[in-house]
Amino acid sequence: MPMVRSDDPLWYKDAVFYQLHVKSFCDSNGDGIGDFPGLTSTLDHIASLGIDCVWLQPMYPSPLKDGGYDISDYTSIHPRYGTLRDFDCFLDAAHARGLRVIIELVLNHTSDEHPWFVDARRSRDSPHRDWYVWSDTDDKYRDARIIFLDTERSNWTWDPISRAYYWHRFFSHQPDLNYDHPAVREEIWKVMAFWLDRGVDGFRVDAVPYLVERDGTSCENLPETHAVMKDLRARLDAHYTGKVLLAEANMWPEDIRSYFGDEDEFHMALHFPIMPRLFLALRREDRTPLLDILARTPSIPASCQWALFLRNHDELTLEMVTDADRQYMWDEYATDPRARLNLGIRRRLAPLLNGDRRQIELMTSLLMSLPGSPIVYYGDEIGMGDNVALDDRNSVRTPMQWTDGLNAGFSSADPERLCLPLVSDAQYGYTAVNVTAQQHDPASLLNWTRRLIDVRHSTPVFGRGATTFLTPGNHAVLAFTRTLDQQTILVVCNLAGTAQTAALELGHLGDAVPVGMFDGRSWPRLTPDPYLVTLGPYEFAWLHLKRL
Ligand code: NOJ
Repeated sequence: MPMVRSDDPLWYKDAVFYQLHVKSFCDSNGDGIGDFPGLTSTLDHIASLGIDCVWLQPMYPSPLKDGGYDISDYTSIHPRYGTLRDFDCFLDAAHARGLRVIIELVLNHTSDEHPWFVDARRSRDSPHRDWYVWSDTDDKYRDARIIFLDTERSNWTWDPISRAYYWHRFFSHQPDLNYDHPAVREEIWKVMAFWLDRGVDGFRVDAVPYLVERDGTSCENLPETHAVMKDLRARLDAHYTGKVLLAEANMWPEDIRSYFGDEDEFHMALHFPIMPRLFLALRREDRTPLLDILARTPSIPASCQWALFLRNHDELTLEMVTDADRQYMWDEYATDPRARLNLGIRRRLAPLLNGDRRQIELMTSLLMSLPGSPIVYYGDEIGMGDNVALDDRNSVRTPMQWTDGLNAGFSSADPERLCLPLVSDAQYGYTAVNVTAQQHDPASLLNWTRRLIDVRHSTPVFGRGATTFLTPGNHAVLAFTRTLDQQTILVVCNLAGTAQTAALELGHLGDAVPVGMFDGRSWPRLTPDPYLVTLGPYEFAWLHLKRL
């Protein structure tokens, strides 16, 4: 098999990830739906952005009532997206370009069309009955909250076939698997091995906190759930090297921390609480929300890494903020009520920031410089828009905009046949926002993002360095250092829309000269006195502190 770039088992600490859905990326056969041959043909775009690892949304057979997170067969490819052979070709082509690939492992639940559930509900004696969670009443596990508040009334649904209730933390068509049953754990391990043997580089593990239920608890983050993950990690370590497990646990920092275990559960975990606080800090022109949550974030073991993101395929979740902050976020970022979904906002990065290039650059620079590995959501590198007229989270899952031609170059199908309509409004529509146009414009967001990732890759400090926050009196200025071995980088950001000055206490760093990492320009030498910086609206700088 062709080799990927680095054989360091800790590769994920330096990696930049790119999240995409096959369905919405590129259609090769003109049926209006993106597919694996199409995706394979776009790998040069992904590689040229400086991406190290692609995270694929679920590509399994599925009734597609939840973007494919409702799986009906774990060891195959949805026929709409191609065949297993097409998947293998994609994987080889990605590896040949030095790109790794992680896929989704949706282990909490299946589709109600999965043969296991079809068999389980057939009769109370069927072999798969106990693979799911059943009850004669709907009053067990009362302390578990409902996650999809806008659509679900209960975590129990009545099954008229076997005349009992089944348990589900998400949609009622997604029955939860029963992890107390050893056969379920065996089967999920077989699924993992199936894909690992094909060469995938790891999994983004969906909905981790909800694997096990116990009465009298919230049914979240239980020790039994950790035990399941420790078992899967031990098997992974026994048979494979260089693979990564990335946890989706939308929890407070201390609860997410528990999923790293003692380096015996997840390698990576998405840091959910940071994300909304980046948007809060920006709109309030005050770094406090961000610094508070980072202060509350426990340190993590040496081999582990946070995964950072600004936007993803779901609503911008506001579960991990206070009620007052959630209302503020809705008032500021979701003035159109259609933009709200569950406890979140179903919009993309560029429109959230009013299409303001300076704010987009500032937020992307934070994604790339705060401690962790960044994940870019497809299309955000060109500033794609959203469409809140589409239902659920389809608002942020529209086809990738490649050109200003027919169907944005995404597909040759009749426009009515596209899996989702293209964004076509005046500001973000594909005639204005597309890869080809930005390719040719040296000042485009696409080329700027490439440069940013390139600079990030010029040093291991961002992926691996220690972080120290400075606390200048001016709270609109966010400043921190990243340090690894003898290298220190100073990051300064102006969160405000007006010019700001701050005095930074950098005396302990001696008389180094800060040198701009983008323009090579030298700033005045540090002295024992507070170091004065003035930044324009939303301006940021990455400065290498050099001993000259
Ligand atoms: C989390 C996924 O990100 C989301 O898209 C999905 O709807 C739920 N898990 C349920 O599978």
